[in-house]
Amino acid sequence: MNLYELMKHRRSTRHFSSKKIPEDVLQRVLKAGQYAPSGADKHPYVYVVVDDPVSKEDIKKHCEIVDKRFYENSKSWFKDWMKRKKISLEKEFLAEAPALIIVAGETDKPYWLESTWISITYVVLAAEYEGLGTLTYTPSETGFLKELLSLPKGIEPVVILPVGYAKDMG
Ligand SMILES: Cc1cc2nc3c(=O)[nH]c(=O)nc-3n(C[C@H](O)[C@H](O)[C@H](O)COP(=O)(O)O)c2cc1C
Repeated sequence: MNLYELMKHRRSTRHFSSKKIPEDVLQRVLKAGQYAPSGADKHPYVYVVVDDPVSKEDIKKHCEIVDKRFYENSKSWFKDWMKRKKISLEKEFLAEAPALIIVAGETDKPYWLESTWISITYVVLAAEYEGLGTLTYTPSETGFLKELLSLPKGIEPVVILPVGYAKDMG
């Protein structure tokens, strides 16, 4: 598949099989994030891979709490959209996916947020290229992640990318 077809056919994955990701594949996907352009070439991000079931379950539990709060306070169009898209408040994908790639940005670097998002895009496309599904998941609060991952001051979580092979829903 060429790049244009890949970009056109990529869709978010919210249901994952338990099949493990070969280490070399995961490393290639992570490396792709570093090929992205970044403000003043600072590469202002860190990638943390969480793959142990206990930590994934912990992250899921926290995400469900903050996202329920967010959902209850959100506008009706958003609630309708969630229903239409069948997006649940249960974040099963955080436990199901064999790996969660958590991307955090270094806030003292120039254009840190823009650069981090470009890097995330490269990773999402690389995962697609490797036949892996991903979801660009942005929990509405991230304080708990900083604590769970012991991130130092100035390193802000931006996204959680559950990555793995899509579950056959047929
Ligand atoms: C910045 C950003 C934040 C997102 N946050 C969430 C999220 O918190 N939860 C979720 O289920 N999907 C999230 N998504 C995925 C979008 O809902 C999804 O990309 C969009 O509906 C289009 O569907 P597709 O990815 O299958 O093309 C996010 C996507 C982006 C780009």
